[in-house]
Amino acid sequence: MHGMTLTQHIRAAQLTHPGAKGELSSLLTQIGVAGKIISSKVNMAGLVDVLGSTGVVNVQGEVVQKLDEVAEETVQDIVGRSGHVCALLSEERKSVLEIPAPYRGDYIVAYDPLDGSSNIDANVSIGTIFGIFHKKSLDPEVTRADWMRPGREMVAAGYILYGSSTVFVYTAGDGVHCFTLDPGVGEYILSMENLRLDGRCKVLSVNHCNGPYWEPWVHDFVGQILARNDDEKRRVSGRHIGSLVADFHRNLMYGGVYLYPTDSRQPKGKLRLFYEANPLAMLVEEAGGAASDGRQRILDVMPDELHHRTALIVGNKTEVELAEACVAKYEGKGPAAP
Ligand code: AHG
Ligand code: MN
Ligand code: MN
Repeated sequence: MHGMTLTQHIRAAQLTHPGAKGELSSLLTQIGVAGKIISSKVNMAGLVDVLGSTGVVNVQGEVVQKLDEVAEETVQDIVGRSGHVCALLSEERKSVLEIPAPYRGDYIVAYDPLDGSSNIDANVSIGTIFGIFHKKSLDPEVTRADWMRPGREMVAAGYILYGSSTVFVYTAGDGVHCFTLDPGVGEYILSMENLRLDGRCKVLSVNHCNGPYWEPWVHDFVGQILARNDDEKRRVSGRHIGSLVADFHRNLMYGGVYLYPTDSRQPKGKLRLFYEANPLAMLVEEAGGAASDGRQRILDVMPDELHHRTALIVGNKTEVELAEACVAKYEGKGPAAP
């Protein structure tokens, strides 16, 4: 017997919510379709002319790769015309994209169309990350209050990872589930249900080359993790891809902590709250882990702009709490970190 498809799984979950109209289920399925299209383009990257940069610099001040542009257009075309969204918030767009009638629906999707795009030309895993809000106001227009909200108000989040296989990982508040794309039939098939992150932290994932710019607490935290290896049991390994979505997925599989702290070059942090930190925070919490900016839970951070940047520490709860203790120690708050 073949495994359960993504559409079947989402539909089964929907049936446990009496009154649900199936709009969110259909939206998640359409995000999956966008992922299939992007996956196919990523797989063809060396064969058709989609490698390299466009020469354009985006609103984040970063060079736009050709595949960034392909992914952005795909999400706009597929999710934008799904009939379920009224606005799209993209890492690649300067402002909110309002969806006109007749395609307009009740949801707002915030997404990073292609995360880790500096890795594209080297054939390294990259992905699409998304978070979904239900429109807040009854106002027919999309107002700032509809999307300027903390991540805890999201109704679903997930990512599609274009790795050795393509996987769709999502949560709608009922656990974290992973589906693998069967390229032969073009369908996502359930491969792991109810993923949990409550075992031991085996991986430390950070760009160590930013060390000269780190604040003291980061050195303290990293030092404490490394000190665990002194007992000759190799308890923690360093793994850093530089594609947040791939680093996150590996840590979710094996147990680990990823951090991208603020530093002297990037005092507000590098990662974006709406498109990167929030969706991964919802997933990790659903799996039993935690996500913090060092001072507060990521899902409680109140954004002050569309492209709000943040520090991110995400992974096993014990290690995220240790990072928070290190921050508090250097801020003179709270007890000394263990
Ligand atoms: P994006 O490709 O969407 O711009 O995101 C890149 C992010 C993230 O994926 C990654 O972990 C981080 O930037 C790497 O940054 P550094 O090269 O500064 O380590
Ligand atoms: Mn990104
Ligand atoms: Mn991106």
